[in-house]
Amino acid sequence: MSTTLITGGTVVSATGRGEADVLIDGETIVAVLQPGSELLGTDLTASVDTVIDATGKYVIPGGIDAHTHMQLPFGGTFASDTFETGTRAAAWGGTTSIIDFAVQRTGERVQDGLAHWHELAAGNCAVDYGFHQIIGGVDDDSLAAMRGLVDEGISSFKLFMAYPGVFYSDDAQILKAMQVSAETGMLTMMHAENGPAIDVLAEQLVAQGKTDPYWHGVARAWQLEEEATHRAIMLADVTGAPLYVVHVSAKQAVAQLAWARDNGKNVFGETCPQYLYLSLEEQLGASSDEWGTFEGAKWVCSTPLRSHEEGHQHHMWQALRTNDIQMVSTDHCPFCMKGQKDLGLGDFRAIPNGIGSVEHRMDLMYQGVVTGKITLERWVELTSTTPARMFGLYGRKGVIQPGADGDIVVYDPNGHTSIGFGEGRTHHMNMDHSAWEGYEIDGHVDTVISRGKVLVDGGQYLGSKGDGRFLKRGLSQYLV
Ligand code: URP
Ligand code: ZN
Ligand code: ZN
Ligand code: ZN
Repeated sequence: MSTTLITGGTVVSATGRGEADVLIDGETIVAVLQPGSELLGTDLTASVDTVIDATGKYVIPGGIDAHTHMQLPFGGTFASDTFETGTRAAAWGGTTSIIDFAVQRTGERVQDGLAHWHELAAGNCAVDYGFHQIIGGVDDDSLAAMRGLVDEGISSFKLFMAYPGVFYSDDAQILKAMQVSAETGMLTMMHAENGPAIDVLAEQLVAQGKTDPYWHGVARAWQLEEEATHRAIMLADVTGAPLYVVHVSAKQAVAQLAWARDNGKNVFGETCPQYLYLSLEEQLGASSDEWGTFEGAKWVCSTPLRSHEEGHQHHMWQALRTNDIQMVSTDHCPFCMKGQKDLGLGDFRAIPNGIGSVEHRMDLMYQGVVTGKITLERWVELTSTTPARMFGLYGRKGVIQPGADGDIVVYDPNGHTSIGFGEGRTHHMNMDHSAWEGYEIDGHVDTVISRGKVLVDGGQYLGSKGDGRFLKRGLSQYLV
């Protein structure tokens, strides 16, 4: 067992900040000390194995990205990051836990889908990982199997009101699954978009020759996110299920969440960096020399990027302040342009949906601190503490305190990060482009420690494949 002391930094939690030294013994935090203090009469800096000088830097709990899709089968291809490449990129960016989505599809057994996801991840991950369960085919068998998930450490499942013929559930199926959620305490996660209506609009647009990525955003109208969000809230209410709406992008959907919460319902919402920064006009409507107006395919995801003119992005930042939205995940689901996104040349419906950001979430959200949109404490809360509480990991993860896993990021507020490809630019995700090309970050992830092991330090990767372990999660600690 080795000991590590992180000294001289400002320890930031969801509720405050202060100068403190953090002592890790083996995999676990054993003490948070006044600067320079002696433990049992010994000078710690002389007796520990490793001293990390964090003077002038923030010491924060490792990031938790509660929404990733490594190797997700989608649109005839697979998300381009494996558990190995995607979790290594996460570590580079200061994320020390992910919660990925195991997939069950119509006709498949839930247990088989889950077992397959364990096979994909086991021994390959750089950081700790848990699973939510996608239920893509609600029937008597899957409903029965869902009751066993909590014992497996899977305390949340995702349903889709979108993607008819793929992951879609109709209202009757949703109601039945939510009854299991209410009965077991599992959190129902919802992809809230009216898929059947979207598919009609998309078909009509393509028939009019409107085949570019831009029209993906038009077909997936905000009204159809607002409507589905409302329907999900009411179905949850009638069953008593706790509801967590994933990847919220429309300001009108936020209003639905706020209304539900104001009425005392166990309803929560997540947004993603892309909905805070990127837009229908600038990204989905982009063109380039290489790809022409197909350039926008880099940003085809669902829910879609919303209109800047309509002010959704601005509103989303505000919802983070008012706690109408409780946390930020990435929905990391990368696809390369060549051989994957380009399946949809001439028909936006065939573009695999997803953006890769797992490496950049901590940096991108820190820009909210730099620009005065959120506090330092809120940054930690949105990216680590609330994800831990929401998904039954708090105490072990999401907090720097004795007994917690030694998952720590030393973040340099005076550092700088240039995101993308080419000279001085970096990312480690398995993609042939970056959705964040050209982003200049005030701040830098200096040191990343996972369960006491230094994974990233001084621009070097020191971890190895298989460092990450499966996280058996408990029930949500966020419910009233
Ligand atoms: O575009 C997205 N979000 N792709 C991943 C699948 C999903 O709906 O989360
Ligand atoms: Zn989704
Ligand atoms: Zn604009
Ligand atoms: Zn997703």
